[in-house]
Amino acid sequence: MKIVVGLSGASGAIYGIRMLEACKALSIETHLVVSAWAEVTIKQETEYSLDQVYGLANYVYPNQDMGAAISSGSFRHDGMVIIPASMKTVAALAHGFTDNLIHRAADVTMKEKRKLILVPRETPLHVIHLRNLLTLAEVGTAIIPPMPALYQKPVTVGEIVDHLVARVLDQLGVEHNMIHRWTGIPNAPSLGPRGED
Ligand SMILES: Cc1cc2nc3c(=O)[nH]c(=O)nc-3n(C[C@H](O)[C@H](O)[C@H](O)COP(=O)(O)O)c2cc1C
Repeated sequence: MKIVVGLSGASGAIYGIRMLEACKALSIETHLVVSAWAEVTIKQETEYSLDQVYGLANYVYPNQDMGAAISSGSFRHDGMVIIPASMKTVAALAHGFTDNLIHRAADVTMKEKRKLILVPRETPLHVIHLRNLLTLAEVGTAIIPPMPALYQKPVTVGEIVDHLVARVLDQLGVEHNMIHRWTGIPNAPSLGPRGED
């Protein structure tokens, strides 16, 4: 399996890093692009050096390299994830405005009808953010905001991050055992046909 991974400059660089680590552990080939502002958030938010992050991927491309292999629809892959996705990158994708390699590779992924997954991070979201996300959802993009699954009672930030990464892997159709899956509420009260007790 071969995927394209973009890290843009929203808060949450660790989600992208854990995604790369998970792919490496699962022998998924990764083609990585990191935006200039993602390099800043990696330094600001994590203990990872840029070299360590780049070292997790099989192939790395500069974000300015519009001539890279992943810039063309003829480069076949099994999906692209932008994790985290800034509102600037979301806006660019929603409007077909491709002035860097992350935008271009995602635009190509959409036009070739391949799987595109976004992990958009901003809060609060204003109407333009929401409209842009809706536009992308309407063309089949999977929108996976980094919202913790508190029903799993996470204790560490790592557990919260891994849960999100696992849901992205689910979207890609990858078999993994990163999380405990929900199997229902033990000893739940029995409900009637309309949901009443
Ligand atoms: C520390 C830091 C945190 C940021 N967090 C966010 C964020 O959560 N969401 C967002 O949309 N932009 C955030 N930004 C702003 C983006 O980095 C900025 O809009 C940038 O132009 C995005 O460009 P890119 O999408 O090409 O990486 C943050 C910037 C910094 C320096």
